[in-house]
Amino acid sequence: MKVSVIGTGYVGLVSGVCLAEKGHQIVCVDIDRDKIEKINHGIPVIYEEGLEKLLKRNLNGNFIASTDLRQAVLESDLTLIAVGTPFDGQEIDLSFIREAARQLGEILRDKPGYHAVVVKSTVVPGTTDEVVGRALEEASGKKAGEEFGLGMSPEFLREGMAIQDFMLPDRIVMGGIDDQTLEMQDELYSVFPQADKVRTSNKTAEMIKYTANALLATMISFSNEIGNLCAALGGIDVVEVMQGVHLDKRLSPILPSGDRIRPLFTTYLEAGCGFGGSCFPKDVKALIAHGRKIGRPMTLLDSVIHINEQQPRQVLNLLQKHFPSLKEVPVAILGLAFKPGTDDMRESPAIPIIQGLLAQKSQIRAYDPVARREAQKLFKGAAIDYCDSLEETLDGARAVVLLTRWEEFGRLPEMLTGRAEAPLFIDGRRMLDKRSIARYEGIGM
Ligand code: UDX
Repeated sequence: MKVSVIGTGYVGLVSGVCLAEKGHQIVCVDIDRDKIEKINHGIPVIYEEGLEKLLKRNLNGNFIASTDLRQAVLESDLTLIAVGTPFDGQEIDLSFIREAARQLGEILRDKPGYHAVVVKSTVVPGTTDEVVGRALEEASGKKAGEEFGLGMSPEFLREGMAIQDFMLPDRIVMGGIDDQTLEMQDELYSVFPQADKVRTSNKTAEMIKYTANALLATMISFSNEIGNLCAALGGIDVVEVMQGVHLDKRLSPILPSGDRIRPLFTTYLEAGCGFGGSCFPKDVKALIAHGRKIGRPMTLLDSVIHINEQQPRQVLNLLQKHFPSLKEVPVAILGLAFKPGTDDMRESPAIPIIQGLLAQKSQIRAYDPVARREAQKLFKGAAIDYCDSLEETLDGARAVVLLTRWEEFGRLPEMLTGRAEAPLFIDGRRMLDKRSIARYEGIGM
């Protein structure tokens, strides 16, 4: 199938490259010339394991990037809209979506025959039909659902696992206002025969995406609230508490063989320094704002955000318990992005933690295997010493703060033992065994 994709961000580029790998003919379009040039030279512009290899393999075969939207749309049967939908502080910012729909509409005005438009960006319920549909109709002079198709198909990929999640989807949600849009998505997704498919309305498809993210974010803030209570009560460790909770057979089912299934879901039921990234914070906030707008405040989700915004503070509190003044204290920050396997710094808990340390004039050394460049851009000019290895980062540190679960941090117990003066260790993710490190402090204990 010939498909054009608007947007070469996370969702657009991964979707485009993976669909090309699966045999579709893809053109990814972006207004950013520099980005397009890089992509067409095999440089993926974002870090995602396996993406570069897939991009290079499909480039100039099934995949090409372009700035020419008109040609891409005229030569394809279906367009996926995968532009950003940031949260502007008040509500979801639909300006990129609106602009994409307007431009697309103008092209559809000149395109004979049927063309399907499918929104992949995360948008609040009603956006595809009311905002995108209307903009397309106005600009094209054509009728949605008759002269062109309108669908919504959210993306559930996790950063750092994006290729794997896209290639082996657990579910595919397809919304559409007309049968033909749904049939075209059937064809598009026929390359994933094993995935469960949900055929529904656009509005429901939009709601499924928000509900999935809101649920996971709620589980995290729930675990953090419990963790904070454990710490306040004293003598209780949230890790042990959650282990006991996870053994509920409804969370970890027992097979007839007696073995347990440990669903990934339980990894969202762990305390830590909070969630970040491009989805959870922005999506939950956008849903809350949308609810408020229509007169349905969501107090539970309000608390989910409130707890999460407080959570990085717990790390600073633990540091200050040992160093009432952090001035000139050498602190090693391990992990900068919001999680391992990505260079995405958006809403990373490391940001408020580093800002807190900068305000107190600590000597910051920082290490992240892939997010260094993004962090440098974000903290431009700040007094942070970026290191190339774990060893170098630990050198001279009086406090070591772990903020993401990079596998290589598993070496820390071994690296920290036998030091003349053991540094304070703060486990912001409860990743390591507290008995394996001398001066261990963790969230929720
Ligand atoms: C998420 C959803 O998982 C994905 O389905 C959706 O499409 C986009 O949002 P992603 O943002 O890549 O994906 O991150 P995810 O791996 O789900 O983790 C989100 C955040 O939660 C990370 O900051 C992680 O560190 C944090 N987290 C996770 C916790 O703080 N505690 C946990 O127990 C689990």
